[in-house]
Amino acid sequence: MKYALTFLAATAFSAAAATIDLSHIPRGTSKNVVPNAYVVEIDPNTVGISSITGKRSMNPHADLYAAMHKRDISWSTTQEYEGDLYTGASVRLSSEDDLVKLANINGVVAIHPIMLHQRPKLPYMHTVTGADDALIPTDTQSTHKMCGVDKLHGEGVFGSGVKIGIIDSGFDYLHPQLGGGFGPGYKFASGYDFVGDAYTGLNTPVPDEDPMDCGGHGTHVAGIIGADPGGPYNISGVAYKAELAGYRVFGCDGSVADDILIAAITRAYNENAQIITLSIGGPAGWTSSPSAVVASRAAKAGRIVTIAAGNEGDAGMWYASGPASGIDVIAVGSADNTVTPIQYAKVSGHADIPYYSLTPLNFTTPLPVWPVSKTIVANDACDPLPADTPDLSGYVVLIRRGTCTFVSKLANVAAKGARVALIYNNGGSPNSFVPEPIPGALISTEDGAYLLSQFLAGTPPTISFPQDGGSGTIENPTGGLMSTFSTYGPSFDAYMKPQVSAPGGGILSTIPRAMGSYAIYSGTSMATPYVAGTSALLLQTKGASKEVARAARDLLQTTAHAIRSSKNETALLQTASVQGAGLIDAYNMVHYKTVVSPGQLLLNDTANFKGHHTIQIFNSGTKKITYTLTHKPAGTAQSLGTGSIQNVYPVPLTADAATVSMPRTVTVNPGQKKKFDVDIRRPSVDAKAIPVYSGYIEIASQDGAEILAVTYLGIASKLKDATILDNTDEIFGEKIPAELNAAGNITRNEETYTFVDTDYPSILFRLVMGTRKLVFDLVSENTTVPNTISRRDVETPARRGLVDDLVDWFFGWLNGSSGHHGGGGSYNQIPTVGGLLTWEYNPRHTLSADPDVGYSTFALSNNTFANNTRIPNGRYKILLRALKITGDLKKEEDYEAWLSPVMVFNATSA
Ligand SMILES: *[C@@H]1O[C@H](CO)[C@@H](O)[C@H](O)[C@H]1NC(C)=O
Ligand SMILES: *[C@@H]1O[C@H](CO)[C@@H](O)[C@H](O)[C@H]1NC(C)=O
Ligand SMILES: *[C@@H]1O[C@H](CO)[C@@H](O)[C@H](O)[C@H]1NC(C)=O
Ligand SMILES: *[C@@H]1O[C@H](CO)[C@@H](O)[C@H](O)[C@H]1NC(C)=O
Ligand SMILES: *[C@@H]1O[C@H](CO)[C@@H](O)[C@H](O)[C@H]1NC(C)=O
Ligand SMILES: *[C@@H]1O[C@H](CO)[C@@H](O)[C@H](O)[C@H]1NC(C)=O
Ligand SMILES: *[C@@H]1O[C@H](CO)[C@@H](O)[C@H](O)[C@H]1NC(C)=O
Ligand SMILES: *[C@@H]1O[C@H](CO)[C@@H](O)[C@H](O)[C@H]1NC(C)=O
Repeated sequence: MKYALTFLAATAFSAAAATIDLSHIPRGTSKNVVPNAYVVEIDPNTVGISSITGKRSMNPHADLYAAMHKRDISWSTTQEYEGDLYTGASVRLSSEDDLVKLANINGVVAIHPIMLHQRPKLPYMHTVTGADDALIPTDTQSTHKMCGVDKLHGEGVFGSGVKIGIIDSGFDYLHPQLGGGFGPGYKFASGYDFVGDAYTGLNTPVPDEDPMDCGGHGTHVAGIIGADPGGPYNISGVAYKAELAGYRVFGCDGSVADDILIAAITRAYNENAQIITLSIGGPAGWTSSPSAVVASRAAKAGRIVTIAAGNEGDAGMWYASGPASGIDVIAVGSADNTVTPIQYAKVSGHADIPYYSLTPLNFTTPLPVWPVSKTIVANDACDPLPADTPDLSGYVVLIRRGTCTFVSKLANVAAKGARVALIYNNGGSPNSFVPEPIPGALISTEDGAYLLSQFLAGTPPTISFPQDGGSGTIENPTGGLMSTFSTYGPSFDAYMKPQVSAPGGGILSTIPRAMGSYAIYSGTSMATPYVAGTSALLLQTKGASKEVARAARDLLQTTAHAIRSSKNETALLQTASVQGAGLIDAYNMVHYKTVVSPGQLLLNDTANFKGHHTIQIFNSGTKKITYTLTHKPAGTAQSLGTGSIQNVYPVPLTADAATVSMPRTVTVNPGQKKKFDVDIRRPSVDAKAIPVYSGYIEIASQDGAEILAVTYLGIASKLKDATILDNTDEIFGEKIPAELNAAGNITRNEETYTFVDTDYPSILFRLVMGTRKLVFDLVSENTTVPNTISRRDVETPARRGLVDDLVDWFFGWLNGSSGHHGGGGSYNQIPTVGGLLTWEYNPRHTLSADPDVGYSTFALSNNTFANNTRIPNGRYKILLRALKITGDLKKEEDYEAWLSPVMVFNATSA
């Protein structure tokens, strides 16, 4: 393998390191959903809900509720959806029995559990303290210069006549740069608060008409699109003459549930927002979550929908966020601003050294430096430090970057008393991070080497962190490169995510007056409104029609500039699975006479390979143009660590490249369109690392005036071969999946459970890749691992109007009609006693130590099946199955399986 220079320092996940202490696992089932809450989609067109007439229902909601009444379902409705995008409701049920009854109502086409999306966690946040704040970028128009927006502004294009719906934490419309009012005639001409201040994601939303912000995030996002010029810092929004509709979906704290996002997208659509933008999301991995589907439908219907790709870059590949994952959504990644804030530390006997932080480290005592390792160690401070480590409270601890997260390094030195630490770079791109649990920041490789050499020479320098006057901005060494926090795709169904990138690292914008009026934030949250604003400039100049809106993604992608993986001119292009087509260019998008489509070619995996594509060039100019076609491969991204099944970060890039057959040139007459064929062959690489290859087909007019590109992306392995369930001891030091007993300890023995207090079993597991279907069944104690089951497809009776085979499968399972009951919906020949739990469209876990994010548990805390029927006392095992990617729901052999030790259920309430 040929590694690019930037990634020489990248280290594989260390297989020996158990990173999570078992005693920290909380009891109970962890899952980011609202309990007993579902979104129910109904089909008003083909089915009368009441199923009497078979005619289109005139009032589908009333019909649905009547049918629910008739079946004795007890429920409450939290949202109702109507309009061409989505008809249905979100309901809270009292039990899973009711779910079965609901599913049996004619006209119900889909039921999904309601996911929670956390408030966006931003990698940097700094409130501007005043005009003399040294962190204010030296050039507050730098982002506009990066994307050619300055030139469109120069032509008087500011988004007039375009309506942008922003879905976020709320908006301080009284901010002097955001119009100073709310309602017709103001910048925020309309809006709605779906939730109220006290909403947390789990409680009942209390909507009102006033979308005032109490979080800050939405006002920052709004300023990026719409801040009027003339404020104290010379900032201006990308499309500050556009009309804004502000939809608030967060309370002052907590998360937002997916049913609220669907309500907000539907309302923005129904109120004719031509652009809908959300800087919200969470790990999804699949194109299919309900809000992703609704967002995608809005895009298909002729709205431009931009959604943040996510700030989980450090999770590595395959971590696409939802609802950005929606097929026709424009998911937006973040590139770093060209100027960046920095701090300076004082070092005895040496010039001040810069460290990457928005604010001075909160530590004032000058202390000598002490390195954890006296040589270069890849996984420095990734494990608990040895017992003979001195008390570190009297040192500035020096650690090398690599292998594990900054936070785990800081936690390991903090455990030995350290109060402050500096982490020196290992060749990755510099970035600041939230220092927890102790103050800490990144310094350069060179400064780290200097401090280490002085320590080894017996003259450790003393370091201090001035709290005033130590701030500055520098030309960002990573300016124009992808932000390290920007989330990587693709989706598990092989869709490219994100589509494009825009400036999102180190962005000065408005925040609520009550919070200080101006702040520098970083995140794909900031890049996304940038693209929404740019889209308004497109609609203003090309006409705000559905056709232009539908073409927007292709236009943004084909005129974007692919970004390298480092500043080195010879560095590989960054993988399209993190940058999409690259940094947008608003000016070229509006002014190019050449129009190329499509913007992206999806090649899928080796089993579903689609290497043949057709690209169309439209020459809208007045002269004949000959175009030169060139293949520009990006680095091939290795998803997994060497010899490991864990995804790695930094994502190693290799120079392995696809080969492309296509004409060398294409000549297109003025006003004409011409198509050419492209055949792409994947690079021959080791499939084990799940390599994702990508690149660009460049289309350049021969005079060099117009250079466009089409992005392609494929997977050089068969996704069905990808391991789903972590079956190693790499994370816990114990092989998983595993049964946890009443004490929360891993057990491999027969255990008896009474289901009194915490005397119940749990299953601990990790997903190293996502799965559409994860299912826990109770099986007889004599069941063996099911890979001997003969292959025989079982007929599933078709349910009229059901859109998703998962729904169908689910009902059979819940009714106990899979397995030996033999009825419809069965997918296997393993006799099961009954279903316990099933989750659909699961993202993968990361190397984080947090429950849900790094691992999950399923606790059988009641001795009941999923349908709430009691489990008789007896001797059982729990069977865990995970559907392989691209696997067939109904084929036993398409699942990975794990079987628990024998469990004896001995409950008094059996
Ligand atoms: C700085 O640290 C002190 C004590 O270590 C703490 O009380 C204070 O809240 C911290 N300040 C900030 C801004 O984090
Ligand atoms: C890739 O192939 C799988 C299996 O046929 C399919 O489900 C998926 O939608 C395909 N992805 C794309 C981007 O075409
Ligand atoms: C850029 O990379 C090449 C090799 O890929 C290397 O020889 C050169 O020194 C690098 N330049 C810089 C400035 O790092
Ligand atoms: C659980 O494990 C802890 C430490 O690993 C041990 O102290 C405790 O005795 C165990 N409890 C049971 C019930 O096995
Ligand atoms: C399991 O096998 C054992 C020994 O063959 C037998 O005694 C027991 O009845 C079986 N259990 C069930 C639930 O079939
Ligand atoms: C619930 O599931 C169990 C186990 O599959 C099954 O025996 C029972 O009949 C089901 N009850 C209902 C009401 O569907
Ligand atoms: C299941 O257990 C929880 C507490 O662990 C309890 O609140 C709930 O009522 C139980 N459900 C049933 C059906 O017994
Ligand atoms: C089941 O519980 C009862 C008391 O409730 C006890 O007498 C019996 O020994 C238990 N059986 C097993 C197999 O643990």
